[in-house]
Amino acid sequence: MTTLQTRHFSAFKNELSSHYGFKSGYCFLDLTLGDGGHTEEALKAGCRVVSFDLDASAIQRALDFVPKDFPSIVIDPETFQGTISTDFVWVIIKSNFVKVTEIAKQLSLPKFNGLIADLGPSQFQVLSPGRGFSFLIDEPLDMRLDNTLGVTAADLLAVLNEGELADLFRIADEPFSKPLARIIVKQRQLTPIATTKQLADLVSRVKKFQIRGRIHPATQVFMALRMAVNLERDSLRQLLPQLPDLLLKNGVMGIISFHSGEDKLVKDFISEMEEQQVLSAINTKPIEPSDKELQISQRTRSAKLRLAKKIN
Ligand SMILES: C[S@@+](CC[C@H](N)C(=O)[O-])C[C@H]1O[C@@H](n2cnc3c(N)ncnc32)[C@H](O)[C@@H]1O
Repeated sequence: MTTLQTRHFSAFKNELSSHYGFKSGYCFLDLTLGDGGHTEEALKAGCRVVSFDLDASAIQRALDFVPKDFPSIVIDPETFQGTISTDFVWVIIKSNFVKVTEIAKQLSLPKFNGLIADLGPSQFQVLSPGRGFSFLIDEPLDMRLDNTLGVTAADLLAVLNEGELADLFRIADEPFSKPLARIIVKQRQLTPIATTKQLADLVSRVKKFQIRGRIHPATQVFMALRMAVNLERDSLRQLLPQLPDLLLKNGVMGIISFHSGEDKLVKDFISEMEEQQVLSAINTKPIEPSDKELQISQRTRSAKLRLAKKIN
């Protein structure tokens, strides 16, 4: 089986079952459908599920992976006119999750007993040829999760000034942000940096003494560009304040993040909501992957799960 046929490994599946207490009739909101692993857990436990994804190919894959026993409807809120049945089983919405409140109103969605956001791209997206996310495939640097976005990673490398590039790399904890920004600006005066290989080679040259273990030296630079192209931090900032109102009393929200900056946003948000007595944190320290999960998926090595319960 090739990696593209292999299903994305869904992090923290056990925690989902234990902390959410899935049961029949429970309404669950999966803000990041991907290959549908979390959604499927909820459906199999008898929940009714609403799933969001901004990538049509992710939605198609989830429909292929999730058993056909669960009747589904796919909605594009931009064009959808009707109403959804009140006894729906699985509603899939093709949209950015930042619009969740607006869409919940438009479609008269119920409040939820639980919700999850498993941030970032899936393994399938990163490794799909033609999407320009990975230094493992030589192709144009694109990195858009949503192909209607206008700006690619190559565009950012072409237009940001040296300071802006250094800031962008620093956000992804790249220790060589300044020298990398400097060399990118110098190099692009000779030739545009338009492919994954050009960028990976350039970073490897600058960081030649920094090749540690199995982590490629360009990992942080690629992550920084991906986060910027997809406005990932801004999207999370816009999403968090919408979540409490989507939940029923005692409803549980969980956020899985893969970067310290994102985890801090989630942690600070939950603390602020605790002060306002809106949410109560279920875990004060983030839950990290078990050894067993790490053996199955190296991608989960930086995953952190924070859970909180709606108080009123
Ligand atoms: C890490 S994967 C989720 C994997 C999923 N939990 C599973 O078990 O298969 C994240 C998914 O969320 C989607 N996504 C990322 N940012 C999004 C956003 N702002 N709005 C909607 N979907 C988003 C991506 O397209 C991707 O398919």
